[in-house]
Amino acid sequence: MNKKTVYKTWIRINKIITLSVISLFLILIALSPVNIFIRVLAGILSLPFLYTSIIVTYCYYQFSDIGGNFQYKIHNLIVSKISYTGNVKVLDIGVGSASLITKIAKSLPKASLIGIDYWGNDWEYSKNICEENAKCEGVSDQISFIKASASNLPFDDNEFDVAVSCLTFHEVKDENDKVKVFKESLRVIKKNGEFIFLDLFLDENVFGKNDEFFHTINSLGISSIKIEKLENIIDLPKILLNKKVLGNAVIISGRK
Ligand SMILES: C[S@@+](CC[C@H](N)C(=O)[O-])C[C@H]1O[C@@H](n2cnc3c(N)ncnc32)[C@H](O)[C@@H]1O
Repeated sequence: MNKKTVYKTWIRINKIITLSVISLFLILIALSPVNIFIRVLAGILSLPFLYTSIIVTYCYYQFSDIGGNFQYKIHNLIVSKISYTGNVKVLDIGVGSASLITKIAKSLPKASLIGIDYWGNDWEYSKNICEENAKCEGVSDQISFIKASASNLPFDDNEFDVAVSCLTFHEVKDENDKVKVFKESLRVIKKNGEFIFLDLFLDENVFGKNDEFFHTINSLGISSIKIEKLENIIDLPKILLNKKVLGNAVIISGRK
């Protein structure tokens, strides 16, 4: 029997379980025959946990293929922005569970691709999941996966024709200066090579003041650059437009 692909969503199941268990626990205390003060306190405390677990579960539903399938749609949007064809070399920075890179491999059957990721404990992704997914999709001969950090890519300058990255730069913990992470990604792309980077670039807590960040990116000597808010190119449900979800998401694409 053919194995099925396992593409995890951007919402961690562990997070949903933890929030739900805490909410349930607090509700049970509020309903149990204990001291009234403890019951009221538990009831009040359960509200933010309950609210957050409902929101997070609904976002999970919207991202996954049992619901709105928005993770798939957003990956497809990135794939559709790649204009190179043929025998090209492609890098996915923060490959996750290989959902995006396998789509690129299928749309560029002559390309060779590398997916890098840190695969820390924070995420439910792993190199093994990536390799299994690539096998299931029939593209394992095109792709290799390497454990590495986006802040220090193990590649020479100008190696790749195309680099993509989806929601990874804001996660990079070993480099606070996200402009440096951006520059490191550009470093490995060939002159005139293509890049498509989607991230929460409008989140000033991570990327710094919007004006300064985009001014710096625009002055890196890139030959062409396009900056688009994600919500202006794809219709997102209201819940995903929240600033804590994809409300700050922007695609920066262009040619080096
Ligand atoms: C929101 S997930 C996105 C995964 C994938 N790009 C996707 O769209 O499905 C963020 C990814 O960033 C990876 N990550 C975190 N820190 C990293 C680092 N320093 N270098 C490379 N990847 C990193 C995580 O392991 C995780 O796979």
